[in-house]
Amino acid sequence: MNELSSIKDKWILITGASKGLGREMAVLFGEAGANLIVTARSSELLEELRSDVVASGVECVTVAGDLRDAAMLEKVKSLCINKQIDVLVNNAGVVDITPLEGVSDERIDEVIELNLLIPIKLTKAVIGMFKDRKRGVIVNVNSAGGKKPVPDHTIYCASKYGFNGFAETLKLEIKGLGIRIITVCPGKMATELFNAAGRTMDTDAFISPREVAQGVLYMLEMSPKCSHAALDVDRMS
Ligand SMILES: NC(=O)c1ccc[n+]([C@@H]2O[C@H](COP(=O)([O-])OP(=O)(O)OC[C@H]3O[C@@H](n4cnc5c(N)ncnc54)[C@H](OP(=O)(O)O)[C@@H]3O)[C@@H](O)[C@H]2O)c1
Repeated sequence: MNELSSIKDKWILITGASKGLGREMAVLFGEAGANLIVTARSSELLEELRSDVVASGVECVTVAGDLRDAAMLEKVKSLCINKQIDVLVNNAGVVDITPLEGVSDERIDEVIELNLLIPIKLTKAVIGMFKDRKRGVIVNVNSAGGKKPVPDHTIYCASKYGFNGFAETLKLEIKGLGIRIITVCPGKMATELFNAAGRTMDTDAFISPREVAQGVLYMLEMSPKCSHAALDVDRMS
């Protein structure tokens, strides 16, 4: 008997869906029949994504803006409630690769806010709804850097370790309530994350975000009997 639970007709919110892993998850989840709310700053890339996704016959709502902007964050939170989302995917993130004394205070705020505070605030916005319904899934895109220190990634690792601590502690609070947290900890993926941080890298040996998205889809579709799940994947060399 196939015990997988389909995401067809479910509503899923994905932050940072304009490119990289977020975009791969959006396309894959749309192909699997999920309706989507997708956010990022680039409205142009989100519209391109929307036209790709609706070709699968699902709904796709785009919300363009900076998640660090309070009005934008409120808009996204309201949509989560209005659409009664089933799955929250905390994916948007930035990396910083600088020895500590070289990082500006503004950059520290940006990394901590986007990688840690916004996922906490979005989770807080939906957790009551998930508790009332006794179901709901939260996908946290963390990082290998949330589990082991990486040289010169001090602020990034601080944000991802904090995100991990938040999620692990929240698991105690939601125990037995039918809510599942999926934690995704990839090593280096072939996305634009490092370019956005001003680093050019040879991504040939990096993990494909498509493969990571496929792993997330598999875990999303596990039967409701399954509790929290985690995907740790690093590159071979
Ligand atoms: N790539 C890796 O090696 C790697 C490894 C481990 C974990 N991760 C994690 O994977 C997640 C996705 O990263 P990725 O590799 O797919 O990077 P990416 O291609 O750079 O995508 C990042 C996404 O976040 C959005 N974003 C960035 N700043 C934003 C802001 N202020 N407001 C709203 N959206 C914002 C970007 O869209 P706009 O630019 O259009 O706003 C984009 O859609 C991140 O949490 C990252 O930490 C990545």
